[in-house]
Amino acid sequence: MSQLFPGAVVEPVELAATKGMVCIRTAGQSDAESLSVYFTGLSTTSRNKRFSGARTDLSVVAAECVESDRLDHFTLLAELRQEGQGRIIGEARYAYDEAVRHGEFAISVADAFQRMGLGLQMMTAMETRAIDLGHEMIAAETARTNAEMRGLAKKAGFRDTGLGDWQSVHLAKRLSRQPGLP
Ligand SMILES: CC(C)(COP(=O)(O)OP(=O)(O)OC[C@H]1O[C@@H](n2cnc3c(N)ncnc32)[C@H](O)[C@@H]1OP(=O)(O)O)[C@@H](O)C(=O)NCCC(=O)NCCS
Repeated sequence: MSQLFPGAVVEPVELAATKGMVCIRTAGQSDAESLSVYFTGLSTTSRNKRFSGARTDLSVVAAECVESDRLDHFTLLAELRQEGQGRIIGEARYAYDEAVRHGEFAISVADAFQRMGLGLQMMTAMETRAIDLGHEMIAAETARTNAEMRGLAKKAGFRDTGLGDWQSVHLAKRLSRQPGLP
């Protein structure tokens, strides 16, 4: 995709506010420690939203996210490159559930980089990968109070399936390749 960013799943972009290039790429096992540092650096509010509650075993979670034994479970990272250094500023975890035949995901963007379009870019990249794997449906559950996730999902074309409860919303999207794309 890019010579500068080997492994990028979409063309790297320059975010006006970041003064650096942001590359969205697949996580590998060597990212476990940086991902753990990233999770630790999220605000408590963002972290609790990402994990639907408090988690203290962040290095274990990060190690699970980068396990690469199944093609239909993957993690995308948004990495900011500045002066030759890489820093994780977002992640999206995708896992396919054979039993219900849809992919599920969770996503976060570092607090300082929220509302710059990164969440939507990672969602798009994740959907493209899921389509390439032959998956037809993607779903997620989020708290009713999580306005940012609900707003992001709506913008990405998800609908409320009505399967949530008083605390949570169940969101889903049928995947299809954009006309004209290979
Ligand atoms: C949800 C989250 C990933 C969104 O990432 P982001 O990079 O800020 O999202 P984007 O900038 O791509 O925003 C895309 C759209 O989402 C919606 N959105 C984003 N933040 C919002 C907010 N605070 N309130 C309402 N809508 C919001 C908007 O429609 C936005 O489009 P717009 O900026 O043109 O209005 C981020 O807020 C986050 O990490 N939250 C904490 C973790 C979390 O809640 N994860 C979800 C559960 S797994």
